[in-house]
Amino acid sequence: MFKIGDLEIKSNVVLAPMAGITSSAYRKFCASFGVGYVVTEMVSDMGLIYGNEETKSYVAFDKLDVPTAVQLFGNSAENLAKAASICEKMNSNIDFFDINMGCPVPKVTKTGAGSSLMNNPKLCGDIVRSIKEVTHKPVTVKIRLGSGTSKDQFVDVIKEVIKAGVDLIAIHPRSAKEMYAGQPHWDLIKDLKNSVNVPLIISGNIYTIEDAINAMKISGADGVMVARGAVGNPLLITNINNHFQGKETVSTDLNTQIKYCLELARLLIEEKGEHLAMRIYRGIATKFFDGFPKSKQLKCRLSTELNNYSDLVRIIEEYKKEIAI
Ligand SMILES: Cc1cc2nc3c(=O)[nH]c(=O)nc-3n(C[C@H](O)[C@H](O)[C@H](O)COP(=O)(O)O)c2cc1C
Repeated sequence: MFKIGDLEIKSNVVLAPMAGITSSAYRKFCASFGVGYVVTEMVSDMGLIYGNEETKSYVAFDKLDVPTAVQLFGNSAENLAKAASICEKMNSNIDFFDINMGCPVPKVTKTGAGSSLMNNPKLCGDIVRSIKEVTHKPVTVKIRLGSGTSKDQFVDVIKEVIKAGVDLIAIHPRSAKEMYAGQPHWDLIKDLKNSVNVPLIISGNIYTIEDAINAMKISGADGVMVARGAVGNPLLITNINNHFQGKETVSTDLNTQIKYCLELARLLIEEKGEHLAMRIYRGIATKFFDGFPKSKQLKCRLSTELNNYSDLVRIIEEYKKEIAI
């Protein structure tokens, strides 16, 4: 399919980093649905440098059948390189490093990290260069359009990171101001691949196979990154991958969705313990039931009453009984 450095990526669909969602349980769950690679939640360089236990837990994970990137965020080339070195010592299962140059959340941007980095294209290049000096693993970046909706900023950032030897660029064509809302600006990334000599991945509103086809056709990219669209709908990954491999699409039904929902719950409990896992799952479990009849009450119950695994099983069983009437 395509390569990141020496790593063979066997699917055109990759899993987006999502803070609060793509922990090791979620990544393991998605790996079996046909993703090309997965990325951790964003990890603070300073958290690693100060040895913060919670930050370190993001970097502890087992090997999967698909490559895993650790996504780092920070505001300085030196500290990001230090953090990458720390990661290398902590976990030999890391396949490559991704640098967050797109986060629009004020808590991150006010420190000069995330999408703020794009205000300084030269610094973006320096970051890639300095991380490449401390690791032989590939280094990728995830960017946005920049602070506004013009081409200038991201084109400059792309030039700098390519000069620095970046191994892949993922772009989410929304501005920092737009956060996650509205349509991505497909017009601004038309034929972008013509000026990018490394693999190019597109992120933004990938909810259907057609969305994936369009994003790749417009930009000429090598793949798409699924984010919110696959939460509760893991077969989106399978079906995009199947499409590009010339295979049939597969459909889902309530029992299949229940099976997936319980499977991810068990993985999350294994990772985080039942109490915390089920708190987190309040915001995820509901997504498996989008579009099913009378699911409004089910979703309301899952998002408010979920305290342990048996609550999850019971609430779902009661819903099944209710809709069978
Ligand atoms: C809850 C949430 C958390 C996110 N966390 C990260 C993150 O840690 N690092 C990152 O680069 N992007 C993050 N993103 C952005 C996604 O990776 C993706 O680029 C964005 O959601 C656009 O894709 P979508 O419209 O298909 O959801 C996050 C998005 C969401 C919704």
